[in-house]
Amino acid sequence: MNAETRILELRAELDQHNYRYYVLDEPSVPDAEYDRLFRELQALEAEHPELVSDDSPTQRVGGAALSAFSQVRHEIPMLSLGNAFEETDLREFDRRVLEGLDLPAGDLFGGGQAVDYSCEPKLDGLAVSLLYRNGQLVQGATRGDGTTGEDISVNVRTIRNVPLKLHGEGWPDVLEVRGEVFMSKAGFDKLNAAQAEIGAKTFANPRNAAAGSLRQLDSKITASRPLEFCCYGIGQVSAPVGETHIGILEQLKAWGMPISRELRHAAGIEECLAYYRDIGARRNDLPYEIDGVVFKVNSLAAQRELGFRAREPRWAIAHKFPAMEELTEVLDVEFQVGRTGAVTPVARLKPVKVAGVTVANATLHNMDEVARLGVMIGDTVIIRRAGDVIPQVMQVVLERRDPEAVRPVRIPTECPVCGSQVERTQLVKRSKGKETLSEGAVYRCVGRLACAAQLKQAIIHYVSRRAMDIEGLGEKSVEQLVDEGLIASPADLYRLTYEQVVELEGFAEVSSNKLLAAIEDSKRPGLARFIYALGIPDVGEETAKVLARSLGSLQRVMKALPQVLTYLPDIGLEVAYEIHNFFEDEHNRQVIQQLLDCGMVLQDEGELAAEFARSTTLAGMIAKLDISSVGPTGAEKLVAKLDSLDKIFAADAIDLRQALATKQAEAVREFFLIEANRDLARAIEAQLLEFGMHWTSEKKTAEGLPLAGQTWVLTGTLERMSRDIAKDKLESLGAKVSGSVSGKTHCVVAGPGAGSKLTKANELGVSVLDEDAFVEFLAGQGIAV
Ligand code: IVH
Repeated sequence: MNAETRILELRAELDQHNYRYYVLDEPSVPDAEYDRLFRELQALEAEHPELVSDDSPTQRVGGAALSAFSQVRHEIPMLSLGNAFEETDLREFDRRVLEGLDLPAGDLFGGGQAVDYSCEPKLDGLAVSLLYRNGQLVQGATRGDGTTGEDISVNVRTIRNVPLKLHGEGWPDVLEVRGEVFMSKAGFDKLNAAQAEIGAKTFANPRNAAAGSLRQLDSKITASRPLEFCCYGIGQVSAPVGETHIGILEQLKAWGMPISRELRHAAGIEECLAYYRDIGARRNDLPYEIDGVVFKVNSLAAQRELGFRAREPRWAIAHKFPAMEELTEVLDVEFQVGRTGAVTPVARLKPVKVAGVTVANATLHNMDEVARLGVMIGDTVIIRRAGDVIPQVMQVVLERRDPEAVRPVRIPTECPVCGSQVERTQLVKRSKGKETLSEGAVYRCVGRLACAAQLKQAIIHYVSRRAMDIEGLGEKSVEQLVDEGLIASPADLYRLTYEQVVELEGFAEVSSNKLLAAIEDSKRPGLARFIYALGIPDVGEETAKVLARSLGSLQRVMKALPQVLTYLPDIGLEVAYEIHNFFEDEHNRQVIQQLLDCGMVLQDEGELAAEFARSTTLAGMIAKLDISSVGPTGAEKLVAKLDSLDKIFAADAIDLRQALATKQAEAVREFFLIEANRDLARAIEAQLLEFGMHWTSEKKTAEGLPLAGQTWVLTGTLERMSRDIAKDKLESLGAKVSGSVSGKTHCVVAGPGAGSKLTKANELGVSVLDEDAFVEFLAGQGIAV
């Protein structure tokens, strides 16, 4: 087949996949297959630049930056819609429609003729016009003032679900399609996270993000943004497309236009109201933001009869939902102290109703966020409450700032609750074998349990269901106990007397006895529960379980070095430091001792988990030292020649070069020339040995293990454990875990969403386990998940 035929074939196939994916919502091939076809087309077009055409799916990457947009006149003006906020507004609209069409109108209680309406969500994006000539996309324009917009042709071409040419046949020579360009909630979150990561400006909401992305003079930026298009009507056409609104949209869909999945008929206004309620109830679950629904008289003949009033059609109306954003004033910024002592700025707001709920406070998270927002006390801000999410301060409205009336937000130097010093936390970063400390965004009160705020939260956490599960002690009672000076640490719970409890508000004889029994019963917790209950910063239930399961005893957890902790699945250096620092703290050690002294017996302390013991190898440890350019493979090579720290320390440049490439050998030598690095490596080794782990070489470790010599591959999403954990477990059984499937692969574990690797495994006849089967397999090997 010649290149041209193949190019045409690939384009047709990719177009078809796009259509099924974006318009029909029924993808027919896995993403990986699409990507493969796409790359093949890209490669062929690169070889044959003369065959590149504007409507090729590869041409969505944006072009040269413009210096300004040129203007486009809309042959038919782009109008806006009248709004209905209340049910009565909508009934009034229906009455006007009936009147305009000379139909029986009924009365306040209904009874009017049922008009055929179309119902669609009102997407919160920006209106765009797309012009197709002879089925080819030739122009894209913004709405502008409705009469004149901006030419954003290059930009709209980058939007994945905008067809560059129409499908099928029968379209008019001139066809102007109108619709909304928007950004999905997921796309918006991802974009904002990426923007924040690089320190770039974040967007207040998906609408602003969509607008900011579409109106870029540099269309390459537009191409990198997750924009989508949804068509809701037509403009100028050289021939009629249909006789009803819904008929037109369905015809456009057949030509490749994405239309709303929520498009419905309604016979009469009652059905419109039912649609409004249904979409309203599902608003938070829709993947994109909407600010209402739009009802349109379905028949075009009826639309013509009704005509327009000023700049709004008489045949359509937007029924709005409560706004998710409102403006209000920051009256003050106060500081709250949390369980771990984090001092968090909270904005006290002039109360405002947002999406139906009165908002008077909003967390500002930390001082970095305050700086990012540039918010000052007295500012007017945009408050947003999207879905069930807590209200957020999104932006300062600088235009409304009165410089005389605002004052800066300052972090207090002393804890507002206990007066202890407030310190800025440090972040630990590690690269090229060096640890660096940098300033964190979080400030902490150093008062620990001497701070009433921390003590209260610590006790509330300690007794909570997933921690020590002491039933009957509510937040109010904890506050009372602390305020009355009856408890100063979790250990004091175990010294409470009947006389003290029965005095608490809401307690009587029975409830007091019950609480005391519950406290007594909590003295035999599992290790994981106990660790979680301690409230170590950044240590949730999962991490507590990992610590308990891997290290097996409180003593080991308490003295583990940060580097040793990073051997455990899903524990990074930062969390490892939090854990280590927590147990280094004299006050925390005292509290733990007090707890043990009052008769606490941890239930499942025991040996180190086999999987952890096996996962430590000398090579693994060296890889963790983060010596520049020495990764896991380099470390293995080194250890294959020099199988102890002593030998490595004693090695000269020549010895090292026998094991490693020159650059790596040099890096290893330089690293271990520094005494502190040698001490660190020895301390880690000593601790691992003390914890009962011995290593000689990687190979020996695997020998004799059930999966020794086997290569496994993990693909798709695992839901019952992270991939890292799955990998650790397989390695603990002696398997190698590889990234690609080949004839040598022993088994593939495939979770949902598995793509090309699964296909390949099936082709090669490699055995495949789904996650449940894998968990069962692990259980058979004595490994619990
Ligand atoms: S119809 C003459 N349908 O809302 C009718 N508009 O205030 C023109 N919008 O500028 C618009 N979803 O940006 C229509 N399903 C929908 C819509 C929709 C969102 C936007 C559009 C328009 C504004 C009208």
